[in-house]
Amino acid sequence: MNLNGKIIVVTGAGSGIGRSLVEKFVAEGARQVVAVDINSGNAQQTANDYGCVAMTADVSRDEDIKRVVEETESSIGPIDLFCSNAGIIALHGEPWWATSAPNSTWQAMWEIHVMAHVYAARACLPGMLERGQGYFLNTASAAGLLNQIGDAAYSTTKHAAIGFAESLAITHGDDGIKVSVLCPQAVATRMTAEIGDGDGGTAAVDGMLTAEQVAAEAVQGLASEQFLLLPHKEVAEYRKRKTDDYDRWLGGMRKLRRRYGHPQP
Ligand SMILES: NC(=O)c1ccc[n+]([C@@H]2O[C@H](COP(=O)([O-])OP(=O)(O)OC[C@H]3O[C@@H](n4cnc5c(N)ncnc54)[C@H](O)[C@@H]3O)[C@@H](O)[C@H]2O)c1
Repeated sequence: MNLNGKIIVVTGAGSGIGRSLVEKFVAEGARQVVAVDINSGNAQQTANDYGCVAMTADVSRDEDIKRVVEETESSIGPIDLFCSNAGIIALHGEPWWATSAPNSTWQAMWEIHVMAHVYAARACLPGMLERGQGYFLNTASAAGLLNQIGDAAYSTTKHAAIGFAESLAITHGDDGIKVSVLCPQAVATRMTAEIGDGDGGTAAVDGMLTAEQVAAEAVQGLASEQFLLLPHKEVAEYRKRKTDDYDRWLGGMRKLRRRYGHPQP
């Protein structure tokens, strides 16, 4: 996709990767970018900094996403690219069981990491299918291809996000709908400042990228219209090892977990 002249919505645009995506899209000559966040002040700050439009929405609410799509399309024009990027982590601490996160965390992650992507597609698809074109960029994570040690709810919902992106691409690729799924490992944002000692923990085993680097990779991936965008190149090899020999890969992940000293239940 050539981003020049395009109308683009980015969720989670008040901070981190979303904010950097907005910056890059404006620099690439987008006609308008809508910066969406649950935090109105941060969405407005992004809009002020990069000369675009701010909207407040909770992406876990179907009606909020519908409103963003309707307001964008009626006041600006048809959406060319919708980026579902908002995400959360919720650290639960000891005991570090795979079941430790409370139901409320599982539910919030399901809604923000998966259903928000479904709501965006549901709201945008009718217009996109009529026009015979449209693009979804969904931010998942390397945790959705591999795993996030110590965070089962995050890992599981990011796997589901990738599954939904695959379904979108398979079901609507023939109708002119494009899909990319962005899967970084650790990125230095507010999110990772909460992990480990602010160093990203095991997710940062290959180092941390900046949000600007990840956004630049996303722009490149959109230009080549690739499905899987891997800002950390190592992830392609890890993914291959996982599919080649699942048991060996699981053993390696357990070793990594022990190395980082997660308490044994
Ligand atoms: N930082 C990383 O290491 C990393 C790695 C892989 C994937 N990701 C993914 O990248 C995406 C962006 O994360 P980030 O690192 O920039 O984090 P961040 O915390 O800097 O930004 C996330 C933004 O999403 C917003 N948000 C959260 N819940 C929302 C909701 N219900 N409705 C609307 N907005 C909401 C927050 O207010 C925040 O502005 C997330 O999906 C995250 O899971 C991050």
